[in-house]
Amino acid sequence: VLNACDKANVKAVWNKVSGHVEDYGAEALERMFTVYPQTKTYFPHFDLHHGSAQVRTHGKKVLSALGEAVNHIDDLDSALSKLSDMHAQTLRVDPVNFKFLNHCFLVVVAIHHPGVLTPEVHVSLDKFLSAVATVLTSKYR
Ligand code: HEM
Repeated sequence: VLNACDKANVKAVWNKVSGHVEDYGAEALERMFTVYPQTKTYFPHFDLHHGSAQVRTHGKKVLSALGEAVNHIDDLDSALSKLSDMHAQTLRVDPVNFKFLNHCFLVVVAIHHPGVLTPEVHVSLDKFLSAVATVLTSKYR
């Protein structure tokens, strides 16, 4: 459960991230596709090469959705309801892949904002990303 301190930490991280959603989103996706190549199977219709415009556009969508979740951190279920339907029922993304993407995003934050990601903030961001993943995979059965 995210406590008040976690929520404040996540919002502080987002202040640093929100101006870079396309860059950081694309970087997180590119790392995911490289480090966990099985994740590429969900994107057969994408150009996945370095610098791909499709990956940049998609990265922006994913991080903007995370930003919306930060804005509705007390009500993730309803904020993410449509995306939850889509990932479970239409895209059928195996839940394990959410851990991969979350990890890659944490690495991207660590690279660009090493001073922000104290162990306490790291734990809060990890808890938040896990909470988002739980909602996005909650309608699988
Ligand atoms: C589409 C968010 C995790 C696979 C999307 C879209 C968003 C989104 C906003 C676009 C929805 C739309 O077009 O209306 C997220 C968030 C995630 C997440 C916030 C977790 C933090 C994943 C993971 C995978 C995945 C782990 C698979 C490895 C896809 C695919 C699409 C999609 C295949 C459709 C892409 C297309 O054809 O345009 N996601 N996603 N997502 N997502 Fe996710």
